[in-house]
Amino acid sequence: MAGGRPPARRLRLGLACTGWIADWAVHQPIRDGSPADVVFVASRDPGRAREYARRWSVPASGGWWELLERRDVDAVYVATPNADHARLALDAVLAGKHVLCEKPLGRDPHAVAELAAEAHRRHVLVREAYHYRAHPAPAGVLAVLRAGVLGTIRRIDVRYGWWLDRTDDVRLSPSLDGGALMDVGCYGLDLVGQLTRGLPEITGTRTLTGPTGVDLTCEVRLRSGPVRARVWAGLRAARPVCEARVTGTKGGLRLRSPFLPVMPGAVAIPLFGASWSSPVEVTAPRAAPFTSYKYQLDAFARDVAAGAWGAEEGIVGRAHLLGRVRERMTGER
Ligand SMILES: NC(=O)c1ccc[n+]([C@@H]2O[C@H](COP(=O)([O-])OP(=O)(O)OC[C@H]3O[C@@H](n4cnc5c(N)ncnc54)[C@H](OP(=O)(O)O)[C@@H]3O)[C@@H](O)[C@H]2O)c1
Repeated sequence: MAGGRPPARRLRLGLACTGWIADWAVHQPIRDGSPADVVFVASRDPGRAREYARRWSVPASGGWWELLERRDVDAVYVATPNADHARLALDAVLAGKHVLCEKPLGRDPHAVAELAAEAHRRHVLVREAYHYRAHPAPAGVLAVLRAGVLGTIRRIDVRYGWWLDRTDDVRLSPSLDGGALMDVGCYGLDLVGQLTRGLPEITGTRTLTGPTGVDLTCEVRLRSGPVRARVWAGLRAARPVCEARVTGTKGGLRLRSPFLPVMPGAVAIPLFGASWSSPVEVTAPRAAPFTSYKYQLDAFARDVAAGAWGAEEGIVGRAHLLGRVRERMTGER
């Protein structure tokens, strides 16, 4: 095209799953214009992979190792059950692929540190799919909070829960690393990590364990410098809940749906003492017409195209904290 810039190359993605979340995290964003294409889908069962490929118009399918051998795959989206994330991400990195891995990447800091070191060595990008941070609304609110709009933050309270009624769901399996903490509690811990420095101290946990052996609800209390935090997570929430309250020396803020900005307009509502406009501006519906998954895939594709590499900052600390919380919860029983 004379005079114009050549179009940036589209990211060629392989899926390491046939579950439902890839529709939200990959297929819909591509339909909405993300610069990526799904070129391969892998399953433990070749028949299921073929059927998925047919249904979603993916040109090729097969097993995990076939996916990693494909030269036409730039990056792998890992959305298997939690227990496999770090291992599959490492396989992919060793095969020279960039990785977008569903949250949580893991709770073994050694495995995640090895992954980060290999990503660095092989110049590939590894990102943990905390999609909410890619959305302009929560990202904007995090930015103003970090800039001190509430003064010094003193308290963070997060509640995220829903009612899981399927009895065969991977979230109910201890061996697949299910449970409320790993499913939704990890978001709350991530938010606390975004607003505090260093690894918080765990001051208490309270867990309701279900018949399959996973935590159906859990509450984690944390301390980080002057900040006290409480993170509640549930797979048995009487009513779906997703909210955070952040209180500082100058004011308080309630975030409605901070982790579910899939609808336009996750809103930050001043609780007291605050009369600013920026959180409201950044959450205005028209400012963010797409889902958080679309912003996440756009950013990942853009960063790969720009030659970014290495593991996302904070990835090892998050695994460390999750692991320590899980240990503490296990000690309760
Ligand atoms: N970011 C978000 O908003 C979000 C939302 C939902 C889920 N997630 C994350 O995505 C991951 C998958 O959750 P999901 O709800 O999509 O699960 P799912 O529907 O059960 O899908 C998981 C997929 O993993 C594959 N798999 C590999 N080993 C498996 C095993 N031992 N047992 C069952 N399936 C296995 C299966 O594909 P094959 O059978 O074809 O191999 C299956 O389709 C979880 O880590 C979850 O935390 C994220």
